[in-house]
Amino acid sequence: MSVFTRRDGILHVESVALPAIAARFGTPCFVYSRAALEAAYRAFDEALAGRDHLICYAMKANSSLAILDVLAQLGSGFDIVSGGELARALAAGADPGKIVFSGIGKTEFEIRTALEAGILCFNVESAAELARIARLAADLKKRAPVSLRVNPDVDPMTHPYISTGLKENKFGVAYEDALRLYRDAAASPHLDVAGLDFHIGSQLTDVAPFVDAFDRVLDLVDTLAREGIRLRHLDIGGGLGIRYRAEQPPEVADYVRAMLAQLGDRPHKVLLEPGRALVGNAGLLLTRVEYLKPGAHRNFAIVDAAMNDLMRPALYDAWHDIAPVVQRSSAKQRYDVVGPVCESGDFIGRSRDLAVAEGDLLAVMSAGAYGMSMSSNYNARPRAAEILVDGGAMHQIRARESLESLYAGERRLPR
Ligand code: LLP
Repeated sequence: MSVFTRRDGILHVESVALPAIAARFGTPCFVYSRAALEAAYRAFDEALAGRDHLICYAMKANSSLAILDVLAQLGSGFDIVSGGELARALAAGADPGKIVFSGIGKTEFEIRTALEAGILCFNVESAAELARIARLAADLKKRAPVSLRVNPDVDPMTHPYISTGLKENKFGVAYEDALRLYRDAAASPHLDVAGLDFHIGSQLTDVAPFVDAFDRVLDLVDTLAREGIRLRHLDIGGGLGIRYRAEQPPEVADYVRAMLAQLGDRPHKVLLEPGRALVGNAGLLLTRVEYLKPGAHRNFAIVDAAMNDLMRPALYDAWHDIAPVVQRSSAKQRYDVVGPVCESGDFIGRSRDLAVAEGDLLAVMSAGAYGMSMSSNYNARPRAAEILVDGGAMHQIRARESLESLYAGERRLPR
């Protein structure tokens, strides 16, 4: 299903024409489709039907309240990585009993707040963290539900993808240490051994590394069961890729089927932490061409969105399709589409063939994940507005930041 369609040459999101959004809310702005978001969630949910499961949306991908709200209404849980994300999830109406807390640097304050909120599980990433959680739970006279994030050390020579599940990565506990840590946890009166989790990387476009990783950790799960340490859930992480350009990631159903085949008839509840796969292709960044700057070596299309709005091209050399909102019949020229920020790395897309003129609108596609959530105020640029389209309705779900808000928390020195 595509919710991004052209009608009479004009790009629409569901039934709303993008020029109408620009006219009403200005640019740059992120535009999301509720239908696309819901379809992406349902693809996971339906693939897991018949199996006890919980989708914990990795909200770092896009933590705007309305996005969380739409997913929470569908029954989604959340994967959080900070006290800030916990506060956002609760403000959006999330059920704390559906929240898992990942991340290698959980502070005492964050752990205490999450214990008091009654989250589903801590995804523990080190022995030191496990000890800290046990101590804080004892202070609060609680038992903390824990899962160990096991690092399966999936071989990068076989699967050369960006990976977080390798020995040299900072995430998770080493496979060899996991058994001992589970025994420690099971012996603690303040820890409730709930599950096991792993997450091997992001934007994976092949199921093989997922299956390899699951295969490895399932050995551990079986060993634990033989010792009488029975886990309630297995959290298979996130990381399923999306199509930005020519990638051909597995269908959600195929990925889930492969994982469930590995699991077999083991009784565990399955948790997943998809981020990008839920929101990435449900959103775009709408921007306007401020200037055209032809040159002897390169032509630049200077737009009003920049690396502070969408950091992925500058940070990862990531590709996002750039589509004119209204098609022109004039000849295309090759442009670097760049923002106004004072860095040569501030580009949205390089060497794009476009027929554009000053004032034209461009849609930067696949910007729903790791767009707004990674934005900054660099160059004292207010963060963009966010609009959620629902059928024919456009809802402003975040106002454009005001100039005053940029320095609202700051103080000059006393005179
Ligand atoms: N679970 C854990 C523990 C994670 O660390 C992540 C992402 C996810 C789930 C969700 O992964 P996803 O399904 O979205 O791939 N900023 C980068 C991506 C960083 C991903 C960090 N961890 C980007 O823009 O490509």
